[in-house]
Amino acid sequence: MKLLVINGPNLNMLGIREKNIYGNGSYKELLEYIEKVCDEENIEVDFFQSNHEGAIVDRIQEAYGDFDAIVINPAAYTHTSVAILDALKAVNIPCAEVHLSDIYQREEFRHHSYISLAAIKTIYGKGFEGYKEAILFLKNYVIEK
Ligand code: DQA
Repeated sequence: MKLLVINGPNLNMLGIREKNIYGNGSYKELLEYIEKVCDEENIEVDFFQSNHEGAIVDRIQEAYGDFDAIVINPAAYTHTSVAILDALKAVNIPCAEVHLSDIYQREEFRHHSYISLAAIKTIYGKGFEGYKEAILFLKNYVIEK
């Protein structure tokens, strides 16, 4: 199985940004954590991080025909981006949405996710472990399909 992990704006600042919300782990540590999970599960993984909406749309389009599943933390674009939602719908690759924090316990503008309309699973409030849960869920989903 080939998995693409996409992280949106400001997630490259993990370990620096709002540690009380997102924890102490850095973006590099997040990638190492995901790599370990994928190694154990025999999953081939690619990473993409961007602070730009169009770049994320481009990467999703390029994934068409090349990846079995996508894990995405769209970060702030979760709450604004019809373009990322449409790209995920266009490629129709099974997708799980992850948020490090519990977006439903935060400001009201974070309670709505456009991306949830394309995701087969949304995981929030579990920190790095949310990515693991998403990966295991997608692995099962892809095998059973
Ligand atoms: C986030 C939650 C978003 O509301 C926020 O804009 C982020 C990160 C999370 O991982 O908890 O940048 O997606």
